[in-house]
Amino acid sequence: MFRIACLFFIGSAMVSCGSKDQSQKTETPSVETVSVDGAKVFKINCALCHGEDGKLGANGSKDLSISELSLDERIAIISKGKNTMIAFEKILTLGEIRAVAEYTMTFKK
Ligand code: HEC
Repeated sequence: MFRIACLFFIGSAMVSCGSKDQSQKTETPSVETVSVDGAKVFKINCALCHGEDGKLGANGSKDLSISELSLDERIAIISKGKNTMIAFEKILTLGEIRAVAEYTMTFKK
Protein backbone atom coordinates (compact mmCIF):
# COMPACT_ATOMS: atom_id res chain seq x y z
CA MET A 1 0.00 0.00 0.00
CA PHE A 2 2.73 2.37 0.98
CA ARG A 3 4.68 1.49 -2.16
CA ILE A 4 1.74 2.24 -4.35
CA ALA A 5 1.22 5.56 -2.67
CA CYS A 6 4.92 6.24 -3.03
CA LEU A 7 5.00 5.50 -6.74
CA PHE A 8 1.93 7.54 -7.29
CA PHE A 9 3.58 10.39 -5.48
CA ILE A 10 6.74 10.19 -7.58
CA GLY A 11 4.76 9.97 -10.76
CA SER A 12 2.49 12.83 -10.06
CA ALA A 13 4.53 15.27 -8.10
CA MET A 14 8.07 14.22 -9.02
CA VAL A 15 9.01 14.37 -5.40
CA SER A 16 11.38 11.65 -4.32
CA CYS A 17 10.01 9.49 -1.60
CA GLY A 18 11.90 9.04 1.61
CA SER A 19 14.22 12.02 1.20
CA LYS A 20 12.26 14.52 3.12
CA ASP A 21 15.22 16.78 3.70
CA GLN A 22 15.65 17.41 0.02
CA SER A 23 12.04 18.06 -0.69
CA GLN A 24 11.51 21.58 -1.83
CA LYS A 25 10.54 24.08 0.75
CA THR A 26 7.22 25.44 -0.28
CA GLU A 27 7.49 29.16 -0.01
CA THR A 28 3.92 30.18 0.17
CA PRO A 29 3.62 32.43 3.18
CA SER A 30 0.11 33.36 4.06
CA VAL A 31 -0.41 36.75 2.50
CA GLU A 32 -2.46 38.08 5.37
CA THR A 33 0.35 37.54 7.81
CA VAL A 34 2.94 39.30 5.71
CA SER A 35 2.71 43.04 6.03
CA VAL A 36 1.81 44.55 2.70
CA ASP A 37 3.20 47.86 1.55
CA GLY A 38 0.09 49.73 0.42
CA ALA A 39 2.15 52.52 -1.11
CA LYS A 40 4.01 50.07 -3.31
CA VAL A 41 0.80 48.33 -4.40
CA PHE A 42 -0.62 51.74 -5.26
CA LYS A 43 2.37 52.83 -7.36
CA ILE A 44 2.30 49.60 -9.33
CA ASN A 45 -1.45 49.21 -9.86
CA CYS A 46 -3.19 52.52 -9.37
CA ALA A 47 -0.84 55.43 -10.09
CA LEU A 48 -1.38 54.87 -13.81
CA CYS A 49 -4.84 56.40 -13.52
CA HIS A 50 -4.85 58.05 -10.11
CA GLY A 51 -1.30 59.43 -10.05
CA GLU A 52 1.25 58.85 -7.30
CA ASP A 53 -0.48 61.44 -5.10
CA GLY A 54 -3.97 60.23 -6.03
CA LYS A 55 -4.82 63.48 -7.80
CA LEU A 56 -4.03 62.70 -11.44
CA GLY A 57 -7.57 61.83 -12.50
CA ALA A 58 -6.50 60.14 -15.74
CA ASN A 59 -9.02 58.01 -17.64
CA GLY A 60 -11.91 59.67 -15.83
CA SER A 61 -10.70 58.56 -12.41
CA LYS A 62 -11.59 60.38 -9.23
CA ASP A 63 -9.25 62.62 -7.28
CA LEU A 64 -8.60 60.40 -4.30
CA SER A 65 -7.44 63.28 -2.10
CA ILE A 66 -10.98 64.67 -2.03
CA SER A 67 -12.79 61.34 -1.87
CA GLU A 68 -15.25 61.07 1.00
CA LEU A 69 -15.55 57.30 0.80
CA SER A 70 -15.05 55.14 3.86
CA LEU A 71 -12.46 52.40 3.97
CA ASP A 72 -15.08 49.73 3.34
CA GLU A 73 -16.49 51.60 0.35
CA ARG A 74 -12.99 51.95 -1.09
CA ILE A 75 -12.32 48.25 -0.59
CA ALA A 76 -15.58 47.50 -2.43
CA ILE A 77 -14.71 49.74 -5.40
CA ILE A 78 -11.16 48.46 -5.60
CA SER A 79 -12.39 44.85 -5.50
CA LYS A 80 -15.26 45.19 -7.94
CA GLY A 81 -14.13 48.12 -10.09
CA LYS A 82 -16.32 50.95 -11.32
CA ASN A 83 -16.81 52.23 -14.87
CA THR A 84 -13.30 52.48 -16.39
CA MET A 85 -11.66 51.32 -13.20
CA ILE A 86 -10.92 47.64 -13.40
CA ALA A 87 -11.78 45.14 -10.66
CA PHE A 88 -8.75 44.21 -8.62
CA GLU A 89 -10.17 41.22 -6.77
CA LYS A 90 -8.47 38.81 -9.19
CA ILE A 91 -5.26 40.82 -9.40
CA LEU A 92 -4.56 41.65 -5.79
CA THR A 93 -4.97 39.64 -2.62
CA LEU A 94 -7.46 40.72 0.01
CA GLY A 95 -4.57 41.87 2.14
CA GLU A 96 -3.20 44.00 -0.67
CA ILE A 97 -6.61 45.50 -1.42
CA ARG A 98 -7.07 46.44 2.21
CA ALA A 99 -3.55 47.88 2.45
CA VAL A 100 -3.94 49.94 -0.71
CA ALA A 101 -7.39 51.15 0.40
CA GLU A 102 -5.87 52.28 3.69
CA TYR A 103 -3.11 53.99 1.74
CA THR A 104 -5.62 55.95 -0.36
CA MET A 105 -7.08 57.30 2.91
CA THR A 106 -3.75 59.05 3.55
CA PHE A 107 -4.15 61.30 0.50
CA LYS A 108 -6.90 63.18 2.22
CA LYS A 109 -5.75 66.37 3.88
C1 HEC B 1 -7.82 52.18 -15.48
C2 HEC B 1 -7.70 53.32 -14.59
C3 HEC B 1 -7.78 53.07 -13.10
C4 HEC B 1 -6.94 52.30 -12.34
C5 HEC B 1 -5.74 51.47 -12.79
C6 HEC B 1 -7.40 52.43 -10.98
N1 HEC B 1 -8.49 53.24 -10.92
FE1 HEC B 1 -9.50 53.80 -9.24
N2 HEC B 1 -10.84 54.79 -10.36
C7 HEC B 1 -10.80 54.91 -11.73
C8 HEC B 1 -12.00 55.58 -12.18
C9 HEC B 1 -12.35 55.89 -13.61
C10 HEC B 1 -12.75 55.88 -11.02
C11 HEC B 1 -14.10 56.59 -10.94
C12 HEC B 1 -15.21 55.57 -11.05
C13 HEC B 1 -16.54 56.28 -11.06
O1 HEC B 1 -17.00 56.65 -9.97
O2 HEC B 1 -17.08 56.45 -12.14
C14 HEC B 1 -11.99 55.36 -9.88
C15 HEC B 1 -12.41 55.45 -8.58
C16 HEC B 1 -11.68 55.02 -7.49
C17 HEC B 1 -12.06 55.17 -6.12
C18 HEC B 1 -13.34 55.84 -5.62
C19 HEC B 1 -13.12 57.31 -5.44
C20 HEC B 1 -14.40 58.03 -5.15
O3 HEC B 1 -14.37 58.94 -4.32
O4 HEC B 1 -15.43 57.69 -5.75
C21 HEC B 1 -11.08 54.63 -5.36
C22 HEC B 1 -11.02 54.57 -3.83
C23 HEC B 1 -10.08 54.11 -6.26
N3 HEC B 1 -10.47 54.36 -7.56
C24 HEC B 1 -8.94 53.48 -5.87
C25 HEC B 1 -8.09 52.83 -6.74
C26 HEC B 1 -7.00 51.98 -6.31
C27 HEC B 1 -6.60 51.75 -4.87
C28 HEC B 1 -6.43 51.48 -7.44
C29 HEC B 1 -5.30 50.47 -7.53
C30 HEC B 1 -5.51 49.21 -6.84
C31 HEC B 1 -7.13 52.05 -8.57
N4 HEC B 1 -8.14 52.83 -8.11
C32 HEC B 1 -6.80 51.80 -9.90
C33 HEC B 1 -9.80 54.46 -12.57
C34 HEC B 1 -8.76 53.64 -12.20
